[in-house]
Amino acid sequence: MNELAGKHIVLGLSGGIACYKAAELCRALIKQGASVQVVMTEAAERFMTPVTMQALSGRPVFSSQWDARTAGGVDNNMPHINLSREADAILVAPASADFMAKLLHGRADDLLSLMCLARPLERVPLILAPAMNREMWVHPATQRNVAQLRADGTTVLDVGAGEQACGETGDGRMLEPAELLDDIVAFFQPKALAGRRVLVTAGPTFEPIDPVRGITNHSSGKMGFAIAHAAWEAGAQVTLIAGPVTLPTPRGVRRLDVTTALQMRDAAEAEALQADVFIATAAVADWRPAQAADQKIKKDGQGTPPPMVFTENPDILAGLAASPRGRSGALYCVGFAAETDNLQAHAQAKRARKGVPLLVANHGPSAFGQDDNQLYLVDEQGVHPWPRDSKRALARRLVAEVARRLPPNS
Ligand code: C5P
Repeated sequence: MNELAGKHIVLGLSGGIACYKAAELCRALIKQGASVQVVMTEAAERFMTPVTMQALSGRPVFSSQWDARTAGGVDNNMPHINLSREADAILVAPASADFMAKLLHGRADDLLSLMCLARPLERVPLILAPAMNREMWVHPATQRNVAQLRADGTTVLDVGAGEQACGETGDGRMLEPAELLDDIVAFFQPKALAGRRVLVTAGPTFEPIDPVRGITNHSSGKMGFAIAHAAWEAGAQVTLIAGPVTLPTPRGVRRLDVTTALQMRDAAEAEALQADVFIATAAVADWRPAQAADQKIKKDGQGTPPPMVFTENPDILAGLAASPRGRSGALYCVGFAAETDNLQAHAQAKRARKGVPLLVANHGPSAFGQDDNQLYLVDEQGVHPWPRDSKRALARRLVAEVARRLPPNS
């Protein structure tokens, strides 16, 4: 997807071994449709050559405030002004401890810090991806600087944890290029769910028959994972309760893995106490074997299948919609319906039966496992069909729609 189409990013590199990740980040930004102007400090040039960054960005790299080349199409020998005016954001990755300390004081003795200071505050946001040794990161001076930079309106991204280039282990590594890309894409999304807590169920459940067999279904979890991701992009705190699926956890999302419907119900009921929104995309098994066998069930050699008694699973969505928070609207519940026929009529009946204000219907066989989908929104007013689109785009649209329907944040 062209997630950053039309965006112009100034990618600043300050000195640190994480400069090697900036090369891949630059490629990733461009792959998503952004244009990238690289600006490097003198220290950054010790770690990565401007030749590499020029080759990857397709533009000459700037590093000196005295550089007289044409910058931003202007010839006035003011690269610190001209290079930032068209930018949708200045992203400094890596941002060293020293560079952040410098920004904090409004110092501007090299091109990159000069640009950060001279940028139009109201329309060119500054995003920093810190990178440093773990002791430098936890040092009170650095933490104080980060807090003050944030208070000044700068977006300071998280750091990664783990093994560091110096051989020590801890917090302070720069995020990986793919994580940074996710954060930048999210940065540009509207924050319609800021301050909200969103709970999502996704994927199938698996109901054991015996230790090696069970009942499940074809749900891939893709729609629910896309919704969880979109809700995080929209600024929500997101918990995702996932049945057995192989999908990676969306960035920024807290994930709880469960297997059975009963486990999903228990997790959902506990988490829903804190949530403002519950979006139930999971394809919960309707029944489970009343008693799972302790040992593998053997064939009897006569061709007779084993007798099997089923129990109906609790309806998680209907249960939460009928809870005091669900009924009062403090927990806004959204259901999903995968139908094979008579989609609109079945969906309207299901919305009433589940007692939810909003139900999203789709055609099961053409949605399960696919990367795109067609949704029908069903509310009090009727059925609203949405054109077919990628699950990612639909998830963003749905999140915006849910945000619009929520009571004002108290
Ligand atoms: O009744 P049906 O399974 O078609 O309903 C689908 C909707 O109800 C989905 O939102 C699904 O996540 C939710 N559901 C549930 N618990 C169940 C069955 C369905 O939360 N036991």
